[in-house]
Amino acid sequence: MLRAQSSPQWLQAVLGDFDSFLVDHAANERKASANALSLVVHYPDQGLLVDTLIEIAREELDHFQQVYQWMKRRGLKLGRDEKDPYVNKLLKATRNDREGRLLDRLVLGSVIEARGCERFGLVAKALDDEELAKFYHDLAKSEAQHREDFLKVARAVIDPVKVDEALDRWLDKEAEVLNSIPIRAKLH
Ligand SMILES: [Fe+2]
Ligand SMILES: [Fe+2]
Repeated sequence: MLRAQSSPQWLQAVLGDFDSFLVDHAANERKASANALSLVVHYPDQGLLVDTLIEIAREELDHFQQVYQWMKRRGLKLGRDEKDPYVNKLLKATRNDREGRLLDRLVLGSVIEARGCERFGLVAKALDDEELAKFYHDLAKSEAQHREDFLKVARAVIDPVKVDEALDRWLDKEAEVLNSIPIRAKLH
């Protein structure tokens, strides 16, 4: 569903400094878990949203722990909290009215998951280490499920026509933002 493909230069940057990529990847999983919980806190009356997002928060925390284990095997430590220009630019474009904000957070959540899925899939295919490649392959599958879960929740709590309109807008925006950020050995 994405409208821009990750460039070969991005993959080269990641493979050329995989340690930096792992540290940033861990931070992304931690933030994904926190973001899912924050949705639960802000929309406690939405049953399907709460059920689904608690599950996603658990799985992202699991991913965080697993990436951290890979880091430890390489003697790496967790990094300081850093701003992610990709996510920040996207968040700036979310609306502020109650329905618009909920819709944007869910649809944007799905699009960010789709990007994670695409990039983990590329990393999995490019890695020589079979065990690490399998780990990234499994992660790509999990993020693909999250991509669908966010959309399922959005379509259950908001008019699906509005969800499709928002998805169309966010896919354009995501492609524009992706192409505007520098290429680094990071997830974004
Ligand atoms: Fe994840
Ligand atoms: Fe995810």
